[in-house]
Amino acid sequence: MTLAEAVRSWNYSPLEADNIESARDVVNNEEPDVVLLDIDLPDGSGLDLLEEIKETAPETVVIMITGNISVPNTIAALRGGAHDFIGKPVRLEELRVTLRNAIEIKRLRREVTQVRHERKSAFSFDQIIGESGSIKRAKDLAEKVALSDVNAILLQGETGTGKDLFARAIHFASVRSDAPYLAINCAALPANLIESELFGYEKGAFTDAKQRKEGLFEQAQGGTIFLDEIGEMELGLQAKLLRVLEENTFRRVGGLKDITFDARIIAASNKNLKDESEAGNFRLDLFYRLSVIQIDIPPLREREDDCLLLADHFIERNNPKRRGEKLKGLSAKTSEIFRRHQWKGNVRELRNVIERASILEDSDQVSTAHLPADLLKDLGGGAETPSHFPVRLPAGGIALDDVEEMLVTQAYESTNHNLTRAARLLRISRDQLRYKLKKYGSYRPDGALEGESRSDAA
Ligand SMILES: Nc1ncnc2c1ncn2[C@@H]1O[C@H](COP(=O)(O)OP(=O)(O)OP(=O)(O)O)[C@@H](O)[C@H]1O
Ligand SMILES: [Mg+2]
Repeated sequence: MTLAEAVRSWNYSPLEADNIESARDVVNNEEPDVVLLDIDLPDGSGLDLLEEIKETAPETVVIMITGNISVPNTIAALRGGAHDFIGKPVRLEELRVTLRNAIEIKRLRREVTQVRHERKSAFSFDQIIGESGSIKRAKDLAEKVALSDVNAILLQGETGTGKDLFARAIHFASVRSDAPYLAINCAALPANLIESELFGYEKGAFTDAKQRKEGLFEQAQGGTIFLDEIGEMELGLQAKLLRVLEENTFRRVGGLKDITFDARIIAASNKNLKDESEAGNFRLDLFYRLSVIQIDIPPLREREDDCLLLADHFIERNNPKRRGEKLKGLSAKTSEIFRRHQWKGNVRELRNVIERASILEDSDQVSTAHLPADLLKDLGGGAETPSHFPVRLPAGGIALDDVEEMLVTQAYESTNHNLTRAARLLRISRDQLRYKLKKYGSYRPDGALEGESRSDAA
């Protein structure tokens, strides 16, 4: 039985090649899961082809076969990335086990690649929704910085503006994306715990240190560390962090050995760190070091149009979880409320509002019926306030006189030319109103209704 026949009898589909040239074609065209590669081939060494395969198809698992398992050969093959080694004459049972393992390895490699790919797109910049200038500028800067080799970035923005989202997007867009992304919240732990979390410790460094422990700085080698709420970091620890950034080395707590630091630090704060530094609550030198690349994420209330985009985004995301009719968007009134709301919790608050509505809403639009009371109070005059108030400035601007004319005329028309009531609606005097109506040519002095308004005033 030939090798190919044996492999086929185990239910695999082998492709055969009897020299390097034809093997190269098979590898390039058929992308096999596993390659059984003889070192001694008529037109060269299998080790050379191994190198090529590792370049062009790094996921392919290569098993070397040789009549001469010499140490140099073995070392060369393993260095070259061969998964395993089989001596000639090939013992079929051994080959069968090796092959089964190799197929499993290949399956895992494919899965890892797939998961990495999914994670990368789940945390890509495309997932950061927003078309307003300020968020686009923040995204552009973050994308540039992601690809650079700067080792410290500061994200500043109110709670819920997307600092977490930005930090991950930066990591997954960088060359570090396959290395770990580790996060720690500086406000959540006491200073001494943060220190040993970050730096690790040696056995006996303190009473509870029963054995050596690696810190995040070591575990994240090659990757990214997200230091959330850095404004809360204790001053002494800030000094140590600055040293790590300047010298690219650190020591475990209780340790004497300098360890090279090779992660990128992304720090985030919802406080203004410059103000904090000036007030003495944050080290000015660390602030300057971090703020070389500072990305400011704008609050949601400064990007009204993004509110609507984000609402659509979260509606879309929540729909699969929803039973019944598909939610299509916001009602006109809800849109208006969304644009005017102050969103103190920013995008997180908006997301929660949509999640709540997608559970409670019966119609296919997010109506005001299921908005939290907090949003409804923005209606000011209550539910009867016309939805087009307050007057919005169109993107291209508008002549103030035109607006005045529109409002004055509306008030006059809607009260059937009743000067008194129209003036009251506009919070101006009858004389002022009359003057304005004349200016805009809308005054109807001898209309029947003018008489009525006179009697009104009496
Ligand atoms: N531009 C955006 N596009 C889509 N989703 C966003 C955007 N900004 C924030 N989010 C979402 O809003 C929520 C809050 O964002 P995130 O946790 O990143 O905010 P944060 O700035 O870290 O807040 P905190 O200061 O409270 O930690 C998350 O669910 C996030 O996915
Ligand atoms: Mg956060």
